[in-house]
Amino acid sequence: MFQAMDDALLSELTDWLRIPSISTGEGDPAELERAAQWAADKVRAAGGEVELVRVGEGNPLVVGELRAANADAPTVLIYGHYDVQGVGDETAWKSGPFEPEVRDGRLYARGACDDKGNFFPLLHTACAMASAGELPVNVRVLIEGEEEVGGESVAEWVRADDRGADAAIVFDGGMEDPETPSITVGLRGIVHTHITVRTARRDLHQGMYGGAALNSLNALHAMLSAVLPDAEGRVRPELAADTAEPSEIERASWARLAPGEQVLAEVGARPLSPSAPAEFRERTGALPCVDINYIEAGSPRTVIAAETKAAVTLRLAPGQSAAAMQAEMERLLREAAPDGAEVEITHHAGEPSHFDPESPALRLAGEAIERATGMAPAYTSIGGSIPVVADLAAAGIPTIVSGFALADDDIHAPNESYRLESLRLGAAASRELLTAFAAL
Ligand code: BES
Ligand code: MN
Ligand code: MN
Repeated sequence: MFQAMDDALLSELTDWLRIPSISTGEGDPAELERAAQWAADKVRAAGGEVELVRVGEGNPLVVGELRAANADAPTVLIYGHYDVQGVGDETAWKSGPFEPEVRDGRLYARGACDDKGNFFPLLHTACAMASAGELPVNVRVLIEGEEEVGGESVAEWVRADDRGADAAIVFDGGMEDPETPSITVGLRGIVHTHITVRTARRDLHQGMYGGAALNSLNALHAMLSAVLPDAEGRVRPELAADTAEPSEIERASWARLAPGEQVLAEVGARPLSPSAPAEFRERTGALPCVDINYIEAGSPRTVIAAETKAAVTLRLAPGQSAAAMQAEMERLLREAAPDGAEVEITHHAGEPSHFDPESPALRLAGEAIERATGMAPAYTSIGGSIPVVADLAAAGIPTIVSGFALADDDIHAPNESYRLESLRLGAAASRELLTAFAAL
């Protein structure tokens, strides 16, 4: 069924994208609040009740309710995040990251896909149905501002909200390819670790002190070596504990997906080892991995760096425990640190999630997405993480993780974009999903 995109969707989304709501450090908290307020205004304008909720020092949560025409209807929670990644190398952007521009059927801006553009069609459709008095379910709106930094606010809110919900829709995921929508039934968890190592009051002359003084970079190197995988990319057993075997259904579904060789080639990535391309789905969906994200220290002169900072991420496979692996990560790092080095370690963690494609909500959702897009969704696991999903699952809420992102939307990179077609698909799928969930 073809449904045209309404003009207000694009123009309103453009306004939201103009707000530089960066959560990853280099942003302004006032802009995060403004982006939250913007979304709250949207809910209010549709006749909903809404408030900004702050948990501790966190960025505000937008929490709202749009009431169904029939008050006894089920309640469906819709989730998105208004925070965005930093812009990175600004000179690499063809148009300003916060000056949204449409080129060749795509909307370019930071957040155009992740997650303002992915989520907005869902919010917009729920609001339009509410305004028209034809909302088939009660919609609870939950939009957070700390997703990109693994903040805890939304998890605390979900844990404390004992009303629960009959289903949740999380539009922060992707399509399998431009012809195949997907419902994400597995997400990896995450332990994102920041390390600071200090070994002296100031940088030292390496000729004068080298061989006798601790070097923070050498110390960090030893620590990272203790958590890195082997040359094949196999994570050491302590950090791979409790990894669950993927189901037969899941293994079978991999065979229908693009070969790993091609997926890697499309982004110009080199295979980690000779066996990695053939094992792409297993490696990114069903196994843990460890990557160093960043190291900051020293200079290319003959100095001994007094302080070194680094970030390293362990992605968790289904079955693994974030709390247990965080403790293990901390232990391995600290045991490898030389005596005398001053080490600070902080973590952000999120549990992996796994859903049964046969459950009633996922079945209804699959049919709804097929009606909206004319394409049957694939049930897939993704390597990325959306920490709130595990919290929703723990609260007993059947959760549909979907969305219309594609690899060439370049999320987290310069020139992030989203196809106008994806906005249209998102709105059409939202209408069918909300309609279908009246039967829950
Ligand atoms: N929307 C992404 C997750 C994602 C990535 C979904 C790729 C589908 C395809 C999300 O905003 C994200 O970037 N998550 C972070 C979470 C982390 C900072 C806690 C991630 O996966 O690194
Ligand atoms: Mn996202
Ligand atoms: Mn993201």
